[in-house]
Amino acid sequence: MRLLIGGGRVIDPGQGIDAKLDVLIEDGRIAEVGHKLPVPRDCQVYEAQGRIVAPGLIDMHTHLREPGREDQETISSGTRAAVWGGFTSVVCMPNTQPPNDNQAVTKFILEQARTEGACHVFPVGCITKGQQGEELAEMGELAASGVVGFSDDGRSVANAELLRRAMEYAAMLDLPIISHCQDAHLGHQGVMHEGLISTKLGLPGMPSAAEEIIVARDIRLAELTGARLHIAHVSAAGSVDLIRQAKFRLADITAEVTPHHFTLTDEAVYSFDTNTKVNPPLRSKDDLEAILTGLEDETLGVIATDHAPHTLAEKEREFTLAPFGMVGLETALPLALQLVSKDLLTLPGVIARLTINPARILDLPHKGTLAVGSDADVTIINPEKKVIVDPGSFKSKGRNTPFGGWELQGAAEAVVVSGKLINLQ
Ligand code: DOR
Repeated sequence: MRLLIGGGRVIDPGQGIDAKLDVLIEDGRIAEVGHKLPVPRDCQVYEAQGRIVAPGLIDMHTHLREPGREDQETISSGTRAAVWGGFTSVVCMPNTQPPNDNQAVTKFILEQARTEGACHVFPVGCITKGQQGEELAEMGELAASGVVGFSDDGRSVANAELLRRAMEYAAMLDLPIISHCQDAHLGHQGVMHEGLISTKLGLPGMPSAAEEIIVARDIRLAELTGARLHIAHVSAAGSVDLIRQAKFRLADITAEVTPHHFTLTDEAVYSFDTNTKVNPPLRSKDDLEAILTGLEDETLGVIATDHAPHTLAEKEREFTLAPFGMVGLETALPLALQLVSKDLLTLPGVIARLTINPARILDLPHKGTLAVGSDADVTIINPEKKVIVDPGSFKSKGRNTPFGGWELQGAAEAVVVSGKLINLQ
């Protein structure tokens, strides 16, 4: 099977490529990237003039909900949402039911992804059994069965001694700890960012300090243990500062930001739309500014969705009772491209944060690049395409987005997953 993607603007930040080139795919691998490649026999051709041809996008923070909450999302629907959003790989968080804290669950996810998945799925294993923060999960067995990192995402490991041990194991296994940073007590009844707007609305708040305290703690523990630490969904200005300082000292600290945290502030909560209820919460204008600076200077080297589908019934409750989370796979790319139109990042800068940077953190050597021999995962983007966000047309089972009706520009028009072209038009 051969496929030639011809005449597009190939942007592969991992190799420093940004040029009009052709990409030839053979047998599920990148065979050649070059100028005006001859079309071999028996070769499908995709005309990509005016399009951006990037390595397949990787979302390193997705909730696929299966096993256990198939009413919210399945591996089938979640990976379809990913593909329609331009992603060819997703990394799924372990807060399923049961949580992914043992080999059986990891193997189930991988098998389900193999048979039902529309794109590649890389599971993350729990740090603690049942995400209860009391006893370490079987980290060695999880690693052997194929997890790409460890996280108790949804909450922090409150016990610093336990997290220290987890980091020691993770360092031995050479896998990252992906940390959801939030103090278990400070603002634990909060439903939004603690500030002027929470006071005006009379809603209990979650102070930025709840995140910053744990970012500082986890950085210290990573320094103590030599573990690779990745900070998930950074939302607070103080966290950006702490990570920036740590990166000066430490090679192995990385961090991600979600499209909602680089686009919205707590002002969105004035609507009382429960789709703005997310954890960590949408924060203040100052936090947003700090996040944009952190994105620019690469303190925040990854853009990840934290795609968190919930049912309509769950989200149609009062703000205080609705669950935290919003879907993101099908809006992430156009929202990320806004950073380019606003002159905050270059196009290669955005693509790096969605491809090579997550691939390096997760140690996926054949992903996130179009280097010859890499897996043939490609995202073809039409930068001119007008998008009106229509949650009703999402492939995800989740409709819980605050971006419904937004007019954006730029979206994936095709992806290649393991050499197979999927046209999204
Ligand atoms: O808003 C969130 N929703 N934040 C998390 O950390 C977990 C996620 C979920 O699983 O719904």
